[in-house]
Amino acid sequence: MTQHLADPATHDAAAEGPAGRTGWWRDAVIYQVYPRSFADADGDGMGDLEGVRARLPHLRDLGVDAVWLSPFYASPQADAGYDVADYRTIDPMFGTLHDADALIRDAHALGLRVITDVVPNHCSDQHDWFRQALREGPGSPLRARFHFRPGRGTDGELPPNDWESVFGGPAWTRVPDGEWYLHLFAPQQPDFNWEHPAVHDEFRSILRFWLDLGVDGFRIDVAHGLVKADGLPDLGHSEQLKLLGNQVLPFFDQDGVHEIYRSWRAILDEYAGERIGVAEAWTPSAERTALYLRPDELHQAFNFHYLGTGWDAGALRAAIDDSLDAMRPVGAPTTWVLSNHDVVRHRTRFGSLARARAAALLMLALPGSVYVYQGEELGLPEVTGLPDEVRQDPAFFRGDGQDGLRDGCRVPIPWTRNGSSYGFGSGGSWLPQPAEWAGLSVEAQTGDPASTLELYRGALAVRRDSPWLGAGDAVEWLAAPEGVLAFRRGGFVCAANTTGAPVRLPAPGTVLLSSAPLTDPDLLPADTTVWWTA
Ligand code: GLC
Repeated sequence: MTQHLADPATHDAAAEGPAGRTGWWRDAVIYQVYPRSFADADGDGMGDLEGVRARLPHLRDLGVDAVWLSPFYASPQADAGYDVADYRTIDPMFGTLHDADALIRDAHALGLRVITDVVPNHCSDQHDWFRQALREGPGSPLRARFHFRPGRGTDGELPPNDWESVFGGPAWTRVPDGEWYLHLFAPQQPDFNWEHPAVHDEFRSILRFWLDLGVDGFRIDVAHGLVKADGLPDLGHSEQLKLLGNQVLPFFDQDGVHEIYRSWRAILDEYAGERIGVAEAWTPSAERTALYLRPDELHQAFNFHYLGTGWDAGALRAAIDDSLDAMRPVGAPTTWVLSNHDVVRHRTRFGSLARARAAALLMLALPGSVYVYQGEELGLPEVTGLPDEVRQDPAFFRGDGQDGLRDGCRVPIPWTRNGSSYGFGSGGSWLPQPAEWAGLSVEAQTGDPASTLELYRGALAVRRDSPWLGAGDAVEWLAAPEGVLAFRRGGFVCAANTTGAPVRLPAPGTVLLSSAPLTDPDLLPADTTVWWTA
């Protein structure tokens, strides 16, 4: 059952029982705040930490356990803050360290934990280390903290190897003195060299800085990328994007990364209150993801396999089984996620609000921990057709890389029916919001039992009070018609109809919640999930 603590920061881990068995994070619902787009307190059109702080009661009322904040550190914003220039400073557009401290304190007072993003694979090209490395020139010891190399070709005019950036184009950029540096993402995001001890020391110190400030854990950006294969060998393959997450690459999912997370786990364990590490790791299989979650490594990893699964009963059941089977041997909870700031919102991916609602109830019934991306509780669709001039996603500017459409899931969320930017702030919003969002605002949905917001609130309340939802590491599948998933968890049954037609299914007990109105107790409507006590 989900545990709630009055003051998570000062909670004594020893009171929770044997380490690693009864942690708060095992079945936690963790809400992702994308600070640019959550709430804008100072009216500059861009979200900020004071905005988040003011809206924390919404998250408490929603019933989540923790908040994960995407980066708010000092950054030139070449990749929306995933290009960090100073890991211990808040970007002025988001506020100050004082605001971060106040936010963490207020969240704790409301019983919410706080997880921050740490970005260890790369920094900003405006980070002091990189600027110094550029200034000091080839051969300088400061260059050894990054991957600088001479080029190939007669004049060094070709990149040192054939690696491609995740955002498209070569993963190398040449500097005026002729050397090249590696950046697996945008050119403004040079990769750190994790062979260098100073990089290890720096990140251990950064973790401690934020742990001392009271954060309850870290979401680790590109956790699979830190270690590169010896000698940076060619891949011998173009269109490398298609290989991401499908095989171990010389720059992704190298076994050497695990040693880093062992040392980070030791730091997390020095602090009371069960501070956690969450890996953003793209690996070829659930088994390889589980390696990041061995008992002396991290606590959770995002389940991108589940996120990538379509609205199809067979595929969903396979993804659920594979995920649970892979995590069981390492004793880590499985996580579930449908949307985040990098993918098309699942309402749009699945093709309808009905499916999005059904998918949410299915996810919230599974054993393990759940990630909810801001706005999915409002049933927000992806914003398509943003004009080119407002887009900021670096992938868009690199052309042939990712589809470059990540801005469509990052549009500021609506709080009120009226007003500038529907209550996001008093000064408009950095990406335009569709007019229909007035009707999807928190204000419009609150108190309407048919709304998606009330569905999430109701589901999270049931989940919190239930000994079955979220708990454990297995589901008991029940026989069900084609296109329907049905499973039992103790005294609870969940069934999801992924087909476009109603399906006859004898009600196993009393209805707790349904993602669509039920007209006949034995008929599961199209694209609907129902929860029963049984
Ligand atoms: C992660 C982030 C993404 C960012 C990338 C580079 O995948 O989620 O938004 O662009 O890392 O830091």
